Amino acid sequence: MNVFGHEVTVLVKRVYVIRVPLDEQRISECLKDGYWRVKHLQETNSTQAEISDNLDNFNDGDLVISEFQSAGRGRLARTFIAPAQSSLLFSFLYKPKQEISAWGWLSLLIGVSITETLNREINNGFSTKWPNDVLFDNKKVAGILCEKTSRHGVIVGIGINVNYQESELPVPTATSLNLIIGKDLDRTSLFLHILADIKDNLTLWESNTSLIREKYMKSSSTLNSDVRVILPNEKTIESKAVDIDHDGALILDSGDVISAGDVIHLR
Ligand code: BTN
Repeated sequence: MNVFGHEVTVLVKRVYVIRVPLDEQRISECLKDGYWRVKHLQETNSTQAEISDNLDNFNDGDLVISEFQSAGRGRLARTFIAPAQSSLLFSFLYKPKQEISAWGWLSLLIGVSITETLNREINNGFSTKWPNDVLFDNKKVAGILCEKTSRHGVIVGIGINVNYQESELPVPTATSLNLIIGKDLDRTSLFLHILADIKDNLTLWESNTSLIREKYMKSSSTLNSDVRVILPNEKTIESKAVDIDHDGALILDSGDVISAGDVIHLR
C-alpha cells in the first residue's frame, strides 16, 4: 500500500550479478573417486569441440568445463551464447553400454538429472521439455546437446543459465536460476550436485532402463500437453504429446513419431 492507500507493485530488475570463477580445488576434492575427470578452462571456442577435435585423447568420463565459449554450439546447428562466468558450460565423453538404438534416451536422462538437481536444491517446478531442454515456468534454463561419434560414444554438452542480468538473456523465452530465486548461486556447488545426479542416473540406466523411463514420465512437461512440433524441414504438426518410444522419440496423438524437431508447448 502507498500513502494514498493504493496497492503498489514494485518491479525489481536485476542490474548487477556477482561473477566468480569455479573453485577448482573444491571440484577436485569432491570428485576424488575418479568417475569424472574435470579440465577447467577460462575460455574455448566450444567444450564440444574441445572433445570432438581430440577424440583419441578422451576417455569415458573425461569432462571439459569452460568459463566462456566464443562459438558455443546448440542443437540443429544453432549458436549457444553466454556471458563469461554466468553459466555452467561443459561437455563430457560417455560410452553407453546400451544398444545404439537406445542412445536417444541419453539426452532425456541428462534432462531428468538436471531437473532432479534443480527441484531438490533450488525450487520445485523445473521440468524437462522434449527433447532436451529444462524449463521453469515454461522458460528455458538449460539445454543439452548429444553428439554421437563414430567409434568413441557420445559427446554430451550441457549449458545452464545460472547468474544472469535480465538484459543479458538471449531470448524472451529464456531465464536463469538467479532470476528465478532472486539471489546469485554458487556455480561450483551446483555443478557438483549435477554431476552426482548424472552419475547416479547413468549407473541406474546401465542396470535398469525402465526406471529412467519412469523418472522421465514424471519430469516431463511435454507429455500430455498440446504441442506444436516444427520439424527440421520446417513442416509443423499440432497434436497432443502422448508417449516416448524405445528410441527416445516423441509419440503424438496424431500417430506421428518425432525423432528430431522443436517443440512448443501450447497449453
Ligand atoms: C541447445 O539448447 O540447443 C543445446 C545447448 C548446448 C550448449 C552446451 S554449452 C556446453 C557445450 N558446448 C557447446 O558448444 N554446446 C554445449
